Amino acid sequence: MEEGGGGGVKKEKSIERVVSQKALQMGSSFPCQICVVGFLCGVCLTSLFLAALTSFGSFGFGNGGSATSFSALAASTANSTSNFIATASTCTTNCKVQEKGAERFAADSQESGTERYNERVSQLYSAWSSLLSERKKSTVVPNAPHLEDCKSTARVNRRLDHRAENASYPPWTTWKGRLDSYPNADQSSRLRRDQSISEGAYPPWISGSDEENYPLTRRVQRDIWAHQHPPNCRDDPEVKFLVADFERLPGFGIGAQFAGMCGLLAIAITEKRVLVTNYYNRADHDGCKGSFRGSWSCYFFPETSQECRDRAFEVMGDREAWERGIITSKDNYTSKEIWAGRTPRHVSLTHRVWGEPWSYLQPTTEINGSLVAFHRKMDRRWWRAQAIRYLMRFQTEYTCELMNSARHAAFGEEAAKMVVSSLGEDWDKEAEGNSRKMGEIEEYVWSNHKPWIPRPLLSMHVRMGDKACEMKLVEFEGYVRLADRIRQRFPHLDRVWLSTEMEDVIEKTKQYKKWKFYYTNVTRQVGNITMARYEASLGRQTSTNYPLVNFLMATESDFFVGALGSTWCFLIDGMRNTGGKVMAGYLSVNKDRFW
Ligand SMILES: *[C@@H]1O[C@H](CO)[C@@H](O)[C@H](O)[C@H]1NC(C)=O
Ligand SMILES: *[C@@H]1O[C@H](CO)[C@@H](O)[C@H](O)[C@H]1NC(C)=O
Ligand SMILES: *[C@@H]1O[C@H](CO)[C@@H](O)[C@H](O)[C@H]1NC(C)=O
Ligand SMILES: *[C@@H]1O[C@H](CO)[C@@H](O)[C@H](O)[C@H]1NC(C)=O
Ligand SMILES: *[C@@H]1O[C@H](CO)[C@@H](O)[C@H](O)[C@H]1NC(C)=O
Ligand SMILES: *[C@@H]1O[C@H](CO)[C@@H](O)[C@H](O)[C@H]1NC(C)=O
Repeated sequence: MEEGGGGGVKKEKSIERVVSQKALQMGSSFPCQICVVGFLCGVCLTSLFLAALTSFGSFGFGNGGSATSFSALAASTANSTSNFIATASTCTTNCKVQEKGAERFAADSQESGTERYNERVSQLYSAWSSLLSERKKSTVVPNAPHLEDCKSTARVNRRLDHRAENASYPPWTTWKGRLDSYPNADQSSRLRRDQSISEGAYPPWISGSDEENYPLTRRVQRDIWAHQHPPNCRDDPEVKFLVADFERLPGFGIGAQFAGMCGLLAIAITEKRVLVTNYYNRADHDGCKGSFRGSWSCYFFPETSQECRDRAFEVMGDREAWERGIITSKDNYTSKEIWAGRTPRHVSLTHRVWGEPWSYLQPTTEINGSLVAFHRKMDRRWWRAQAIRYLMRFQTEYTCELMNSARHAAFGEEAAKMVVSSLGEDWDKEAEGNSRKMGEIEEYVWSNHKPWIPRPLLSMHVRMGDKACEMKLVEFEGYVRLADRIRQRFPHLDRVWLSTEMEDVIEKTKQYKKWKFYYTNVTRQVGNITMARYEASLGRQTSTNYPLVNFLMATESDFFVGALGSTWCFLIDGMRNTGGKVMAGYLSVNKDRFW
């Protein structure tokens, strides 16, 4: 069936959309709790002292006020201590390979004193946990490499999302983030910098070189930004709008909602309208405060300027404006136009021509053993990648904090070990000294690094359940086979960030001891209840935040294994191909339905 295909009466369309998109629901759950399980035999090493760390219970994390409690590192069940011991004992029989590591670890711990070491790791982890939950720095704590300073990042990004008076673009330079604000006395270097800004060549949300992204990514991102941010929205009668809610029918999954908005962005650009997103049902929960409630801007920076948004909502009440076509809404377009519309070839407002860059996409997707060099609807693949990248260009403080919490629950303990090992005996004293020594290089240069995650990391999205109507389901074994295939080439890869809503899949991970799996601790689907019912049982906040965190982790991971037949994985693929990950390749268990 064609995706939302066919034209015709709108009511019918909506229903058809539900049917064909039914399975597109991503769904799942939320990061109320994350639990990390190491199945890799290596865990038997760490589990020795994890077992000692019974103090690693649960920590309360405040997430923008809503009390979300994350569990610390623990086993797959709440029964953490006994579980780790169990893991350790099963490992003793088949862990020969790990012995070398074990010896080294034993030596290390003898040197520093295992008990004292564990205690410090535990103290540090707790200190970071309270830092996250209280959102303030009470005592001096060593820097947490896996946590981002969300306030400061948001401040920097706000500046990068606003153009200065009379300028064509915001201050986008080849200097990253905070480095740009370094007071530089040299007038001529300022001048040269301003010249490079005037071309807008470096949208700061694109990382990786041009060869590592889809063709024309930087130019297209710049042009979309310029299209969505006309210099004068308030008084320019030429500016027209398309105001649209996110799809709201219960059959729509989170991925289908995003894909629908990507289609509307294409229409807006073709019709020279500024896209303004209105109600987003998944953000209609207590985590999104004030004006963020029910709005895309709870999670990501808004798609256009506040000025344009204000103007669009003002015009919405004006009947004449509707008649004159100044404003349109989703109802003005058929679902065929939204789902299968023409991909923009240029941006008229800024007179930029793109041509057909999708005709020369790099073939780096492998399906069933061979690279897919050419397939149908390449334009749609390219466009969805650009559109979703643009819509998600900057995370809000709220999203950034969700990511912090997820990283802390998954990797915080590993980070604490690294830091304790690097600081030596008196970490608390050293930390105090270090914080005083904070120099310019920390403030301007190193502050721009992304938070640490253990790398290389492979992300795997395993989707089953009611997806069955949409694509042929692949068993978990199929995904692991692809992961093994990547590992043959990259043997240093042994960590998997697993995103799934199926409890069975979590059970099955136990069979794969050479991989270490990380996943969120959230109630999972058991049996065959429908996705919509499952999501409802989790609550809106959880059922949005949890998949989003997994989505963003997947885009950041070094490798990805998924099913291109699902809209969700299709969008992840798009984010990776506009996020410098083209050369990581993509192994898919199946292809898109329409290729
Ligand atoms: C997982 O979440 C459940 C329910 O929120 C909680 O009872 C359980 O303790 C958590 N498990 C771990 C390992 O934290
Ligand atoms: C915890 O593990 C022990 C030993 O395996 C078992 O007897 C006990 O029932 C478990 N408790 C829970 C809550 O699972
Ligand atoms: C912006 O342009 C206007 C008109 O050209 C000029 O009056 C104003 O001074 C300019 N502002 C800045 C900050 O350059
Ligand atoms: C959009 O729909 C409204 C209401 O149905 C209608 O009045 C208006 O003319 C339509 N606009 C366009 C450009 O088709
Ligand atoms: C995968 O490739 C094999 C051998 O080339 C072929 O027999 C099989 O049908 C293919 N499977 C799919 C799903 O295309
Ligand atoms: C779910 O499974 C149960 C038993 O396995 C079966 O009776 C029921 O019809 C199934 N429901 C659906 C909607 O498939």
